[in-house]
Amino acid sequence: MKVLIATEKPFAAEATAGIKNVLDNAGFEAAFLEKYTDKQQLLDAIADADAAIFRSDIFDKAVLDAGKNLKIVVRAGAGFDNVDLDAATANNICAMNTPGQNANAVAELVFGLAVYAVRNLFNGASGTELLGKKLGIHAYGNVGRNVARIAKGFGMEIYAYDPFLTKEQIEAEGVKAVGSVEELYSTCQIVSIHIPATAETKNSINYALLSKMPKKALLINTARKEVINEAEIVKLMEDRADFKYVTDIKPGNDAEMAEKFAGRYFSSPKKMGAQTAEANTNAGIAAANQIVDFIKNGNERFRLNK
Ligand code: 3PG
Repeated sequence: MKVLIATEKPFAAEATAGIKNVLDNAGFEAAFLEKYTDKQQLLDAIADADAAIFRSDIFDKAVLDAGKNLKIVVRAGAGFDNVDLDAATANNICAMNTPGQNANAVAELVFGLAVYAVRNLFNGASGTELLGKKLGIHAYGNVGRNVARIAKGFGMEIYAYDPFLTKEQIEAEGVKAVGSVEELYSTCQIVSIHIPATAETKNSINYALLSKMPKKALLINTARKEVINEAEIVKLMEDRADFKYVTDIKPGNDAEMAEKFAGRYFSSPKKMGAQTAEANTNAGIAAANQIVDFIKNGNERFRLNK
């Protein structure tokens, strides 16, 4: 069994060692394709692989069709908008993710970005503190829960909106549940986005929603760039000089944003949310174990496609 680990953005060394160890113990072969620059390299490397582990790498129809021996592909991470589930099903490939494994890493970065933003990108001007501020957590999944846990340490007032959870489920953890996305944005000066990119959520963070945020608003995005309406956030930030936006995912209009909103806009040079040794190890080893358990025992837990 050949398992391709295709990571344009590589895992930490201890994670790759851990993945190799799991696969060695199962009698599987680990083949690493890291920092590749051309899609053809991925198409070539996957041609004889039985399984694959990947991150934000694009596993579209072309890639899944090229993997003639593929039985399973595992996204080492939570978001799976980069894998074509219909193409996986059509090719009889099981597609999985590893939910929760990198959630703490992403949540910690939220606060790195938050402090950087409220301290004016460290430009020397007097900033503000997080203590006592209202934080809105937009979707209360694995990352959102970790954000709430850390926010308690900062002494923030925490609100969350999640259409898939009951008020009781959210409030059991000392977080105030709000009834609508509009209520979350109109209540909270700081909002952290944790929604996936789906047909429903794409472009949903728009002018109308953001304009509801209180004065000195801060929007933090460690989720996906596609959920933001890029043209409308430009207009909003033109209209509101008090609005700051920090994102871990470079938007399509990054150059325009950086030029127009210097001092109140930041994007990570490379997506860093899940990029810790711990998260890499958790997600990478979970992916390797899921592959072994699927091949050897037929375990389909975390399967995403039909
Ligand atoms: C996820 O969905 O788990 C994160 O966005 C991590 O993405 P990455 O593996 O590309 O860092």
